[in-house]
Amino acid sequence: MKQLRVYLCLIAVLSGPPAWACDVADKPGQAVVASARPEATDAGLEILAAGGNAFDAAVAVSAVLGLVEPESSGLGGGGFFLLRDAKSGHEVFVDARERAPFSATRDMFLDGDGEPIRRKSIDGVHAAGIPGLAAGLVHVAERYGRLPLSRSLRPAIRLAEQGWAFGSKNRAMLGYRKEVLAADAGAAKLFLIDGEVPQQGQLLRNPDYAKVLRRIAEHGHAGFYEGDTAKLLIDGVNALGGAWSKRDFDEYSVVEREPLRFRYHGYQLVTAPPPSSGGVALAGALQILDGIDMTKLDAVTFVHVLTETMRRVYRDRAEHLGDPDFHPVPVDRLMSLAHARDMRAEIDMQHATPSSSLPAASPALEREETTHFSIIDADGNLAAVTQTVNLPYGNAVVVPGTGFLLNNEMDDFSMKPGVPNAFGLIGGEANAIAPGKRPLSSMSPTFMIGEDQVAVLGTPGGSRIISMVLLGILELDDGATAQQAAAAPRIHHQYMPDVLSAEPGALTPEVIEGLRAMGHTVEVANRTWGNMHVARWNRCTGDLDAGADPRGVGSARVGKAGSEAAIFE
Ligand code: GLY
Repeated sequence: MKQLRVYLCLIAVLSGPPAWACDVADKPGQAVVASARPEATDAGLEILAAGGNAFDAAVAVSAVLGLVEPESSGLGGGGFFLLRDAKSGHEVFVDARERAPFSATRDMFLDGDGEPIRRKSIDGVHAAGIPGLAAGLVHVAERYGRLPLSRSLRPAIRLAEQGWAFGSKNRAMLGYRKEVLAADAGAAKLFLIDGEVPQQGQLLRNPDYAKVLRRIAEHGHAGFYEGDTAKLLIDGVNALGGAWSKRDFDEYSVVEREPLRFRYHGYQLVTAPPPSSGGVALAGALQILDGIDMTKLDAVTFVHVLTETMRRVYRDRAEHLGDPDFHPVPVDRLMSLAHARDMRAEIDMQHATPSSSLPAASPALEREETTHFSIIDADGNLAAVTQTVNLPYGNAVVVPGTGFLLNNEMDDFSMKPGVPNAFGLIGGEANAIAPGKRPLSSMSPTFMIGEDQVAVLGTPGGSRIISMVLLGILELDDGATAQQAAAAPRIHHQYMPDVLSAEPGALTPEVIEGLRAMGHTVEVANRTWGNMHVARWNRCTGDLDAGADPRGVGSARVGKAGSEAAIFE
């Protein structure tokens, strides 16, 4: 599908997919880490150099991101860890998603007239689910790592105690959430200096975060879900009007789920199952596209087909996806070739299909946060991790003594059928609030495994995660490097609102005009979105390459285990 990079205006040599025919290497012999912050990438490489595997490195990167990228993720949030053990080929999806507290009720975000109380699911303690990330770190380290938690958490503990440099992105996102952070004493103390946003480069120490990590290092799961940390969180949330209980913490555990797998253009795609909607949507989209000869299409029709494909898989998301432990999700049917064939047959090649079967809704979209990192170690073990506190700086509450923000993941539930959340996503019964339930996610950590290359990818971006990962897979299949895939221009359609969004410069004026003539509503956004991190191993040459999204401030570095890492461009 070599037009992709041209039709989406990425300046690239039109090489097309390489003709792979090679002696396949069984391990890379080097390691690579790509994440949203250089400190986190360095922490991953430090742990790999200390003899850790990709899973130990994932724990280190995750804990550092929770400190230095608090707008995106942290111990107060959750995440998904997609792991592949090279030796056995075992793949697992560790679901460390937040859960609704047992006090949650279906209508908790509706007023007496049944109307949504918008900010209640976004700001303050009611917006938070029970955090899952700490359980994920412990589980990954204890079950799959080689090093003790005390070693893999050391870089984060060290940075928290010695201080980390407040960055440009921290600052921009903090400006966006300043008022609400200032209203919470714990958050204001941690993130504001005399009530103001810290200057770029300001060193911030966080001894409370180090203390919490030390408890986890010493006591594992109990170090967070029992004892001092659990007590601080329960008492602190309840003092602010919330209703968390010891039972919420006693009963929190990660769930090991079978990843979703399907084939596309000779690759085995391994990706996120429910409660993520990502894998189902990616399978639907790629299986629709697989039946269309995209090489024959002109630019307008090409983008039209991508848009119509996104529209249909996001429609499935709205109607069918939710926590599979609470609601049966018809995964096999949604991922079947027959369903893809039906959706493909619905596409009118000349006209846009209006997404009019549900009430139109076009809220101002919140800025998205979340973070993704990708790791390949010297043995070929893979880790794709997407973690989040949901919107920037989560619910803007820091329980004093903890050093981390709580999430506002409750907003990822459907508070009322047809009413959009902060990402404009709608949902129904499958994603209704229930005690102990996990809110539906779009986070889509993914592996692309082929004879020729193995790629690890993912991104933050709320509802747009799925369309970004889809475009990333198409780019990599098209012969893009990891860096080109991370940088590629983006378009997005999510069924409702019925709008095709394009990053500035992603579509030419002629293509936009052509799409409008077909009936599409095209909006050129005033900003870019996403922060994709890709790691890739070329099994023919043995080379590793990685990409850090130029929209962010992350880094992608490759290094030999036990040797000093070199910057990878
Ligand atoms: N909170 C964003 C997501 O999980 O999709």
